[in-house]
Formats: sequence, structure tokens, C-alpha cells
Amino acid sequence: MAAIIRQERALDEAAAAIGAGRLVAIPTETVYGLAADATVGEAVARIFEAKGRPRFNPLIAHVDGFALAERLANFDPLSRRLAERFWPGPLTLVLPQAPGSPVHPLVTAGLDTIAVRMPKGFAAPLIARLGRPLAAPSANSSGKVSCTTAEAVDADLGARIDLIVDGGRTPVGLESTIVKVEAGRPVLLRPGGVTVEEIEAFLGLPVERSAGSAIQAPGMLASHYAPRAAVRLDASDVGEGEALLAFGPRRIDGSGRAVAVLNLSPAGDLREAAANLFSHLQALDRSGAARIAVEPVPRHGLGEAINDRLARAAAPRDKPDVQD
Ligand code: TXA
Ligand code: MG
Repeated sequence: MAAIIRQERALDEAAAAIGAGRLVAIPTETVYGLAADATVGEAVARIFEAKGRPRFNPLIAHVDGFALAERLANFDPLSRRLAERFWPGPLTLVLPQAPGSPVHPLVTAGLDTIAVRMPKGFAAPLIARLGRPLAAPSANSSGKVSCTTAEAVDADLGARIDLIVDGGRTPVGLESTIVKVEAGRPVLLRPGGVTVEEIEAFLGLPVERSAGSAIQAPGMLASHYAPRAAVRLDASDVGEGEALLAFGPRRIDGSGRAVAVLNLSPAGDLREAAANLFSHLQALDRSGAARIAVEPVPRHGLGEAINDRLARAAAPRDKPDVQD
């Protein structure tokens, strides 16, 4: 069973555990991460073991500042501008690995690029204390939704890890946006907590959607974030035995017959909806309903990432897909 410690008192114990090659679930501003020392192969291997994640799916290396980031990766001018604007924060940059990077090759799954992110919250002082990058995928078992509370981490992974640091509910609620600059052009590999609109407004450049993102970000294949229940998107009514994931002030037809109803944001606020997405999916899954009907969610701003995660939750389960 995992010990759960409030973040205010957890720094010594978390640093000692990670220093000893163990796994610690930690809060970030996006979702909880399952962290290990990124420079120690055996520690990184434990992440894959605990998640049941395919080995060839690369992990994000988390840093506390530019000094460490530059030991891991080479920054082109556009990536540097993005990092200076959005770090610390929910943006991950895929960059060429720096020669002599201390990161273990298991983290990058043998790619010559590395995903780097500077998170906010407890992770930052923890990395500073260790002086080493942390490899940290979302703290959930492979194929399940990401966790936004320590309790959700405990319910999913508690039997397989020793320590969970409790920082309360993660404020963003969605994973980081992943961007890779190719030939001077920003390419979106995964929509997330920083919106495409924010990036485009800052750079004054369009952000391309990657056609080959399934190859470049192997964790982004279809049936990911899957609850046990089936998921039906853009529902215009509620069927017999269905639970309802609602959005906004107005309900679709038949909402009175839903076996359970949770609203992502009664006011129709996309930021609030993002923060509630994973915990509401988990709660409706626990209601025992065979299927979750989802009301339409607008696609602009954070709605792009919300719809991306919903589409993955609804994807067919029978394919032998890679999941993370
Ligand atoms: O917000 C987040 O990003 C959270 C918190 C814990 O930091 N982490 C997270 O990690 O979502 P994970 O492992 O669940 O997702 C990382 C994604 C995967 O889709 C992986 O394929 C992609 O990053 N990725 C990692 N390295 C890559 C690389 N070199 N090139 C392309 N994609 C990469
Ligand atoms: Mg994940």
C-alpha cells in the first residue's frame, strides 16, 4: 500500500525515495505524474512495470530550469522562445537530444529526440533538490484516464507504488501540450493545457497539426484514456442505462433517465471543464453504467484538448493498440 503525504511535508521523503531509485507519484499543474530519476535505467524501468506500459513509448523528462534543460536538449530559436514564454507551465517541447545527455535511453525509447517540460508546483523544488531530471508519465495504469487527485492515483496504482505526494486537485486537469519545431515551423503533437490559439498569438505563426503524430508521439494512439464503460460522443439524447457527462447550462433530451449525471462546467467554462474531465469520467465509470453519453463540448481553446481526450476515451477497444 502506498503512503500518502501532504506536499508541504513531503520533500525530504520524496527526494530520498527517488534518490534510492524508487517511484513517487507527484502533483504537477497538469495531472499527477509517476516520477523516477531519469538518469537511472532501473528506476525508469519500474515506471513501465507499474503502468504496464509498452517499453517503446517514450517519457517526458521534467526539469527545474534552463540550466538542466540545456544539458538534455538542443534548443532552436523558436523552441527557446516558446520555453521562455510558457515555462514553467503545461507545454512540452520535443527537441534533439544534447550530446552527453545524462538521461537514460529507456526514457527516450531510443529516439534521437527528447520531450522536455518544466512543470509548476511540487515537482520544481523536488527536481531542484535532486539536481536531476525526473522521468514522469501520467500516474495511471496503461489505458486508464490520467489522475487529477491523490485519491485517484491511490485507487489505480496504490498497490504498486510506495509513496504518493498529495497536492490536492491539479489546477489544469489535462496533460501538457506537446510541440515539436520542424524546419522552423511549430507542429502540434498533442493538444493540452496551453491552447494552440495562445501559441499562435504569441509567435505570430500558424501551428501545424501533425498528420503523423501517431508515429511521433507513440502514446497518442487511438484507444487511450479508456474508462471501463463505453463512451458515446456528441450525444443528442440519453439512452436506457446510460450515464451522462454534461457540459453547460442546457441538458439534452432524456437526461432525466441517466443513471448518473456529472457536469464538466454548468457555466460552460472550458477551463473548468478541463479541470473536471478525468475525475468526472472516473466517477461516472464507478457508477456502473454500461455507457457514458457525452454532450457536445465546443472545440476552440482548451476544447481542442478536451475533445481529443474524449475521442480517445470513445475509441474502439478491440484493437491491439499501444496505450500509455
Ligand atoms: O502533463 C503532462 O505532460 C504529464 C505530466 C505528468 O507531466 N505527463 C504526461 O506524460 O502526460 P505521458 O507519458 O503520459 O505522455 C507523454 C507523451 C506520450 O504521448 C509520448 O509518446 C510523447 O509524450 N513523447 C515523449 N517523448 C517523445 C518524443 N521524443 N517524440 C515525440 N513524442 C514523445
Ligand atoms: Mg498518459
